[in-house]
Amino acid sequence: MSVCVTSMRKLLFAASALVLAQAAPAAAEDLGLGVVPTPEQIAGWNKDVRPDGVGLPEGSGTAKEGEPLYLEKCAYCHGDFGEGLGRWPVLAGGFGTLTYQFPQRPEKTVGSYWPYSSTLFDYIWRAMPFPEPKSLTPD
Ligand code: HEC
Repeated sequence: MSVCVTSMRKLLFAASALVLAQAAPAAAEDLGLGVVPTPEQIAGWNKDVRPDGVGLPEGSGTAKEGEPLYLEKCAYCHGDFGEGLGRWPVLAGGFGTLTYQFPQRPEKTVGSYWPYSSTLFDYIWRAMPFPEPKSLTPD
């Protein structure tokens, strides 16, 4: 009996593989696989900001200039000092808590596990403020 079940499984596996193999070219075409992207398409996806700053958009600003914007658009969740209100994420503190020492109580914050300001910028620019992502200018 167990041989029979094994054979049935093999048969089902082979049949599934056949169906997938026939469906694959159509799916690949739908996804644009095998097609060389245009420079415009590459530019559309190539928007990451790297730790070394490659990919940063034009712009400038200081923490002092950004403070009123933070207070208006961020503080009602993250707190005036990044302490986090209610259950919203804490941004400040946590330095040195990512250790392998017992007891492991990492406080995951901008201070403890975001080593590069450039990638932090990238995240904020894409994803924050939470209710209106992509509403901020690079400045
Ligand atoms: C409505 C509440 C809300 C507002 C307003 C808001 N955030 Fe957030 N923020 C969140 C939430 C929720 C997360 C976690 C999102 C996730 O993990 O997907 C987060 C995550 C973050 C993180 C990553 C924290 C980490 O340790 O990974 C940063 C940095 C951040 N927000 C900065 C900002 C800044 C700067 C603003 C204002 C421009 C802002 N947020 C406005 C709710 C908010």
